Amino acid sequence: MTGANVNGVSIDIRPLRDDAAIGEDAPPSITADLLTERAAHALGQVDDEGLDEIRSLRDDFARFMMPYKFGIDEINTKIGILREEFNELHAYNPIEHVSSRLKTPESLIEKLVRKGCDPSFESIRETITDIAGVRVTCSFVSDVYRVFELITAQTDIRLVEAKDYIANPKPNGYKSLHAIVEVPVFLSDGPVPVRVEVQLRTIAMDFWASLEHKIYYKYDRSVPAELLSGLKDAADTAAQLDETMERLHSQIRGV
Ligand code: GTP
Ligand code: MG
Repeated sequence: MTGANVNGVSIDIRPLRDDAAIGEDAPPSITADLLTERAAHALGQVDDEGLDEIRSLRDDFARFMMPYKFGIDEINTKIGILREEFNELHAYNPIEHVSSRLKTPESLIEKLVRKGCDPSFESIRETITDIAGVRVTCSFVSDVYRVFELITAQTDIRLVEAKDYIANPKPNGYKSLHAIVEVPVFLSDGPVPVRVEVQLRTIAMDFWASLEHKIYYKYDRSVPAELLSGLKDAADTAAQLDETMERLHSQIRGV
């Protein structure tokens, strides 16, 4: 078998050996267009043995990342099922929006360096717990906790770590409920436990976090004090809005 179909997405699981962009037999135009002069020079220094090593490293990396992609698929399916069931049976949707991402190699390397992590797959697996990430946005704070409970109570899910930044916000005002969960992914040679970071938050928390993230990067991590204090005020306002919305929501539902 050379391909798999997961949630309607077809995935080629052949080893990535047919890449012509690296190697002598790559079409010259592609190589010339894609490589900087320095990279082309470096590549020119690589002998056949070196090339084999690069290929094998690339294959190992693809093999290492693959289960994380499937881990995201598993969590997305679980959340999709809850969402549909709530809609069908309770005519209510606690989940507003779901997004997911696989960490890019650049971001993974940056984090390895920052954490002083040994560059072996084994220690990356242990240390970097957000290679697979899923973000769930809910309307109300009560829904955030409810979805957290429903996901982590599932018998095939192991809760590795939970961080409640809603009960204990970060000093900058950041709020979210984080869960690192382990979900089994069934590959052809057996199940592999995969860690996925699930971030759950309200729409208001998400609105705040995305702006804070943009500002943080715009100022290259040293945000002027005035903006920081503005962000803290905005976080308080967002929290107040969440409280008011929750109260109104309870009144409407007669809870
Ligand atoms: P990292 O090393 O960055 O992963 O931090 P950590 O391992 O201590 O985990 P933590 O739970 O603090 O943060 C994990 C993720 O939550 C980050 O990668 C962000 O996506 C999000 N996050 C945490 N703090 C903030 C924050 O202050 N602002 C925003 N916008 N996002 C945050
Ligand atoms: Mg983290």
